[in-house]
Amino acid sequence: MISTTRPSGRPFPSDFLWGSATASYQIEGAAHEDGRAPSIWDTFSHTPGKVLNGDTGDVAIDHYHRVPQDVAIMQDLGLQAYRFSVAWSRVLPAGTGAVNQAGLDFYSDLVDRLIAAGIKPVVTLYHWDLPQTLEDAGGWTERATAYAFAEYARVVARALGDRVHLWTTLNEPWCSAFLGYGSGVHAPGVTEPGAALAAVHHLNLAHGLGAAAIRDELGADTPVSITLNLHVTRAASPAPADVEAKRRIDTIANEVFLGPLLEGAYPQQVFADTAAISDWSFVQDGDLELIHVPVDLLGVNYYSTGRVQHGTPPVGDGTPGPDGHRSSAVSAWVGADHAEFLPQPGPHTAMGWNIEPQGLVDLLLELHERYPTLPLAITENGAAFYDTVTDDGRVHDADRVAYLHDHLDAVGEAMDKGVDVRGYFVWSLFDNFEWAYGYDRRFGVVHVDYDTQVRTLKDSARWYRELIRTGVIPAPESAATL
Ligand code: FCB
Repeated sequence: MISTTRPSGRPFPSDFLWGSATASYQIEGAAHEDGRAPSIWDTFSHTPGKVLNGDTGDVAIDHYHRVPQDVAIMQDLGLQAYRFSVAWSRVLPAGTGAVNQAGLDFYSDLVDRLIAAGIKPVVTLYHWDLPQTLEDAGGWTERATAYAFAEYARVVARALGDRVHLWTTLNEPWCSAFLGYGSGVHAPGVTEPGAALAAVHHLNLAHGLGAAAIRDELGADTPVSITLNLHVTRAASPAPADVEAKRRIDTIANEVFLGPLLEGAYPQQVFADTAAISDWSFVQDGDLELIHVPVDLLGVNYYSTGRVQHGTPPVGDGTPGPDGHRSSAVSAWVGADHAEFLPQPGPHTAMGWNIEPQGLVDLLLELHERYPTLPLAITENGAAFYDTVTDDGRVHDADRVAYLHDHLDAVGEAMDKGVDVRGYFVWSLFDNFEWAYGYDRRFGVVHVDYDTQVRTLKDSARWYRELIRTGVIPAPESAATL
């Protein structure tokens, strides 16, 4: 068992929003029902060898048919907010054009049930499941996809309206661009570094156009956010070559998003870093103004840290790489050929990710220093472990409780130092389809038996419920008795 290193008992402000998060393809199932068309994840997961054990999201945890029961679980936990995503191909099966009313009705009903249960809906429009028709036309390498996203955003905004507490345009565009089109370990499985850079820009553009469409539809004061997985890395030594390796990772992982989204410009260094790969001619006059729209909040997804040195990255074989992602023969780190990720000291989760809450403190402090007036929320944080239901019918996931305990204390520490954090969403509410790892890696605070679809609160869920009830981080040892 992993022991905690941080104190218990830290109180949180009474208006701090406690939530949990999921994503459409990871939980919904019902892949062929009520007019839903395939997304890139349907195609990818059905391609042999792409997902561990050949798992797909066809059924997932059957959330599509279990909304009343699942919302009742959220209510039992006392969740104040629920972050979920909309499946684009349920709403606009062809990506643009004809609207599928049954798809909209599903989300509208979910939103009504959440509100009736006292839970604030936090809607992500794009959590990686691009309609396959749009991918067939070039996907995120095409500028037209950004405009299609704005059309889709408008349709969903019109349908769900002001019942939504907070809109999020994109979840982790880094993964969409670099795992989707660079290393190809995520859908659509393309391995072209130049395509990944075009995808970066068109995702940024989609955010700007989508945010404008939402506000045009619902009013200028409609709260809009984006969620990034900013990579927290450290140079392996102060040697200039190692520092430069880390700088290249920062540029391609973080700055190509923070720059245009929050500062209105791409980092100049990225053009030199990637000169052999792309001339960036996909950036057109006026695009930066379209991208750089005000955001009301920045979502931060945080799991672990990385250590980088100057070196030659090994050729990947699909196993988990030291950068935390599945390795591939083609690197996800476009323009950073001599940046090598080193294995991190433990403890590790079942993903092989190192556990380092201090990285979250550092990230939040850095963001606050750079953007002092921008509110933040932790839109994902959590851990996969190999959980089992024991003879007493419970899931004693002490490792996950310790992980959540220490990271929440890290959030509190950053808030004590002045960082404006508005809420925390544990990833994930339920065990679910963990992308290229299928159902093998369990992130839920609620256990799901994939044969029977029975849901069982893990100790972490009981512990989280106690935290929400009291507003004070409970001692981790108490979880097994709650
Ligand atoms: C994030 C994803 C989320 C989940 C977690 C573990 O990158 O946004 O869907 O898979 O990782």
